[in-house]
Amino acid sequence: MNYDQALALLKKNGQEQVLRYWKKLSAAERKGLLAQIETLDFKAIKYCQSVLASRNEPPAKKGKPTAPKVHELKGKLLKEAVAAGEKELSAGRVGVILVAGGQGSRLGFDGPKGAYPIGPITNAPLFYFHARKVLAMSVKYGHSIPFYIMTSEANNAATEQCFEEHGYFGLNPQDVVFFTQGMWPGMTDDGKIILDRPGHIFMSPDGHGGLLWALKARGCFADMKKRGVKTLFFFQVDNPLVEVADPAFIGIHTLEKSEYSLKLTAKRDPHEGLGMVVKRDGHFDMIEYTEMTEEMNTRRTKTGDLYFKFGSPAIHVFDRAFMEREAAKNMPLHLAHKKIQTVDEKGNIVKASEPNGWKFEKFIFDCLPDAKGVSCMAFDRAEEFSPVKNAEGKDSPATCKADLQAKWSKWFPVPPALPLEIDPAYAINAADIATNGILLQAED
Ligand code: UTP
Repeated sequence: MNYDQALALLKKNGQEQVLRYWKKLSAAERKGLLAQIETLDFKAIKYCQSVLASRNEPPAKKGKPTAPKVHELKGKLLKEAVAAGEKELSAGRVGVILVAGGQGSRLGFDGPKGAYPIGPITNAPLFYFHARKVLAMSVKYGHSIPFYIMTSEANNAATEQCFEEHGYFGLNPQDVVFFTQGMWPGMTDDGKIILDRPGHIFMSPDGHGGLLWALKARGCFADMKKRGVKTLFFFQVDNPLVEVADPAFIGIHTLEKSEYSLKLTAKRDPHEGLGMVVKRDGHFDMIEYTEMTEEMNTRRTKTGDLYFKFGSPAIHVFDRAFMEREAAKNMPLHLAHKKIQTVDEKGNIVKASEPNGWKFEKFIFDCLPDAKGVSCMAFDRAEEFSPVKNAEGKDSPATCKADLQAKWSKWFPVPPALPLEIDPAYAINAADIATNGILLQAED
């Protein structure tokens, strides 16, 4: 693309301000800016503009939310679910999706969050625990499990490097598929694209809901079909306790012929920041914790339990065909008013002191109301959920490491002061320890 073509395209879309500093740019900056303009998706930008223009309109009225049925699997149903899940895994119909494109700003770690050292003894990165579980499940069920990892432009190279440096954590590189999510330009109130440098458009990742677009645009659906994958286990990068491709979860999803299934955990307090799955107007839906009213947060049943008891830590199973269907639609957009660096009339960079521009994000659970079948399954938080969100305090590396050790020490009791770490490819549960025996490794 040359300057004239870029100008014509921008004019057609009312965005010619993007080239306002052209005369001041170096050759390298011009090249970079033209490359950015070439990647802009003006259909998506128009959609963002329309959502931005209607931001002050009252939200559509929705029906009264009620709590959904949540399976607490045990006995015969648990056995049936495990058998059904194991059948899918053995037949090679299961793939795993990890969303790892986030910026991890709360943790403040210099690098992709997945490269954060979380192993209590080895300092192994978060990616290690995820990849070794994929490996463990592949070996256990005798079929490779493709591992799809969504990154962003900002962290893709470092993510791939982390896998390469660690020999793909033992996985076959052909079974690991990295793909980048979309990036959207930031906009001012009137829908104009923001420059954060004279020759650079401010872009930000399109949220974990960008997964659906990215799976389609980057050819992952085609790859899944080629491999015969029909069911996808989805999880987030920050939780090393997650039971990757849990057969019971995949099984209940399969038995109930669901399109979207969710693992849910009892909230640790009424105000915990977890999304809430509800039913309303005949559909399932997710209410973000910021949208829960005090009455909803604290409502109790006759037995004293919280009525909206189970929150979602974003552990899902999807039907591939459902994801493909949803990828063809426009997902709702969530607007965030942010302080975005800009450029003044003279071409000087200006740091914003107040929110001055909009970022756009999609959330994966917004496709929930479209799902024809939904299964909800409760799980025990201590066993499966301890995210690394913050640098300190709640949901931090310290709490996560303690929870990892508490989980492992149930399989292999050690005195509390003794550090313990178990490679998931060696054991993903107590039964594996019993089968494999204890293999102690000590440094000389
Ligand atoms: P979070 O909401 O925790 O965001 O993402 P984050 O970017 O990792 O961290 P903060 O909020 O800046 O501190 C939940 C999951 O969704 C992924 C993240 O990588 C994480 O696994 N995610 C988030 C994406 O893949 N893309 C995005 O654009 C946003």
